[in-house]
Amino acid sequence: MKKFPESFLWGGAIAASQADGAWQEGGKGVDTQDLRYFDTKWDKTRRTENRNINMTSEIFTKALAEKEDEHYPFRFGIDFYHTYKEDLALMEEMNMKIFRTSINWARIFPNGDDAEPNEEGLRFYKDLFMECHNRGMKVFATILHYNIPVHLVNEYGGWKNRKTIEFYVNYVETIAKGFGNLVDYWLPFNEINCSRFNPYNGCCIIKDQEKDYISTIFQCAHHQFVANALAIRKIHELLPGSKVGGMIARFTTYPLTCKPEDVMETILEENYKNYFYTDIMARGKYPSYTDRMFDSLKVAIQKVEGDDELLKANTVDFLAFSYYMSMTTTTDVQQEKASGNLVSGNKNPYLEASEWGWQIDPIGLRISLNQMYDRYQLPLFIAENGIGARDVLEEDGSIHDDYRIAYMREHVKQMKEAVSDGVDLLGYTAWGIVDIISCGTIEMSKRYGVIYVDQDETGHGSKKRYKKDSFSWYKKCIDSNGEDL
Ligand code: BG6
Repeated sequence: MKKFPESFLWGGAIAASQADGAWQEGGKGVDTQDLRYFDTKWDKTRRTENRNINMTSEIFTKALAEKEDEHYPFRFGIDFYHTYKEDLALMEEMNMKIFRTSINWARIFPNGDDAEPNEEGLRFYKDLFMECHNRGMKVFATILHYNIPVHLVNEYGGWKNRKTIEFYVNYVETIAKGFGNLVDYWLPFNEINCSRFNPYNGCCIIKDQEKDYISTIFQCAHHQFVANALAIRKIHELLPGSKVGGMIARFTTYPLTCKPEDVMETILEENYKNYFYTDIMARGKYPSYTDRMFDSLKVAIQKVEGDDELLKANTVDFLAFSYYMSMTTTTDVQQEKASGNLVSGNKNPYLEASEWGWQIDPIGLRISLNQMYDRYQLPLFIAENGIGARDVLEEDGSIHDDYRIAYMREHVKQMKEAVSDGVDLLGYTAWGIVDIISCGTIEMSKRYGVIYVDQDETGHGSKKRYKKDSFSWYKKCIDSNGEDL
């Protein structure tokens, strides 16, 4: 069995909208996540629903006028905007090698189309990234993690408008010049495949305003592929030698049975949910199955001259993905469903699930790493992985999260197997390293961190940070480079 390379990047990840808070400070504009609401009165059975995934004009307009933040957790996050030094100090204590977070576009360009950037926003991220380096951590920066300035939705219709590409590239140029080599790994888009599964966050469109929703979703995806290629070109031009990656949410899918129909269906699902996106970013062209896939979905998109050449000339340096769970596929419509990260699939009788119904499958991570590496032969990065669970803060300040340790241990073991299989794996950033607001269900009680944040659903609490049992486990894992699990 091989060991992890000495250069292996153990780390943790968060996203600006789920952590930063301070939604109206430092010159920041309102962004699309600021408008997603969580109703504390919703009952338990609705918890697994993905709220505001498909935004309506009614909710959007109401949220824009809403001054009370209580039901809008992305507005307060975990106040990372003010606490980042304290949080990074804890990460340094674990000897983390890399920290992944996203830059909030609305902090840099409050409206998205402003002529000049907001200096205070640039300053904030520059200080944050310098703090990471001072504490021995590299920076993995996501340029867009599910939120754009709201003005771009109102004025231009989000990603369906090609103008958004221009504004995005201007934003990329500004931060590439502003942060330069303070960023070690760039990621133009978080989970680019989620434009399909999370259209409000991914495409920034409003469902009832679209005549042909599914075509608009794929039009937005096309604009993002173009924007991704332009971002790669721009960052490479400005920062020679920089590493720019592509990322998907990896929806690992097995055939439920060995019935040939189930196996074929699984191939189609894998293409539709995962490979369509990585094929374009890594191979630089729309895959051969596109026409049939678009026909079956009744999708029509517009490209302009030069788009195909641009995609071909600007492919990613590495591929990243988030991995939480796996699903099964069958043509049998009677099968019991399992819930999951943005998509639902069929239950796998061999797997246990988290309280939120996400099926826990460490071997699925090894499978995914092998599949992705075999297909693209590009270095891989696990940009997100973890278990969302309800943690209990004991009176003495301890949190006994043995379930999280078990989850992380088994996934790290499978990463090691994959490295031994020959996969070129750059690093692992555990998701929500410090507890943050969950993205799908907008809850504080669905926690991923090895660091606990004392805060409830409505943003109340001491906000004090506590080390969970998983904190010392992860430190041990890092210190032994994945040997002492
Ligand atoms: C990923 C997203 O899809 O899943 C994160 O990139 C998100 O933003 C994570 O937080 C976990 O999902 P959730 O809904 O449990 O927060």
